[in-house]
Amino acid sequence: MDFPGRLVRLLKTSPRVVALTGAGVSQESGLRTFRDAQTGLWAQYKSEDLASPQAFARDPKLVWDWYAWRREAVKAVRPNAGHYALAEMARHISNFTLVTQNVDGLHRMAGSPDVIELHGNIQRVRCSVCGEFADDWIDDPVSVPRCSSCGGMLRPHVVWFGEPLPRPELEAAIEASQVCRLFFSIGTSGVVQPAATLAHAANDRGAIIVEINAEPTPLTSTADYFFQGKSGVILPELVKAVWL
Ligand code: OAD
Repeated sequence: MDFPGRLVRLLKTSPRVVALTGAGVSQESGLRTFRDAQTGLWAQYKSEDLASPQAFARDPKLVWDWYAWRREAVKAVRPNAGHYALAEMARHISNFTLVTQNVDGLHRMAGSPDVIELHGNIQRVRCSVCGEFADDWIDDPVSVPRCSSCGGMLRPHVVWFGEPLPRPELEAAIEASQVCRLFFSIGTSGVVQPAATLAHAANDRGAIIVEINAEPTPLTSTADYFFQGKSGVILPELVKAVWL
């Protein structure tokens, strides 16, 4: 793939860079994106209808089981070439901030340091009442495991629809986006707020917006460069074009 000389030259100067990733970067690891239709056991539900406090209040066991199933799916996969390319970019760019909406932990597994996880991490579990983290619990076929401190129901440590994002992570992501020279939006449909506003925060301050996605998105018309295709192919090619 040919990358514009201006982009390659700019990356070589090690500017401040932010990369925001979404479910698309993990697609080539074998994880379904958030808006893919579900299959099998879960085909009758939409992800959006399971990832909410209302869903948990209505049927906690259903939501717990869905996350337990997703947790196992995540444990079975490995980072792909896109995750590794982003880890490599962090080694070349001194001020590189990786922000992800993914809860799968694959960026860390690929060696990316200091990942800002905006939506939490699916491998962690906390009490829905007192917030204490639980390292282990006993699964029960009929009910949701309980907190050993207060007896509240355990829940995944992820952000659900309608819940606020963790403030320190959001503030760090906004701050980095406002001062970066280059902003990458990779494998995200860009429809979920407030993550979707980060690209606009960067654009408003004059950053160059680069989008990598299998399909055009609402951001595409704003982006300075749009590379259509798989992030697991495009990102390693970009790294090769700039640094190898
Ligand atoms: P989506 O499922 O909304 O979008 C995935 C994006 O990845 C789409 O735009 C696809 O075109 C693109 N895509 C798929 N495969 C790709 C590949 N191999 N390479 C590059 N792009 C690819 O996922 P997100 O944008 O991450 O939040 O969704 C954002 C948030 O919505 C999620 O974190 C989740 C959900 O609601 C919460 O649960 C709070």
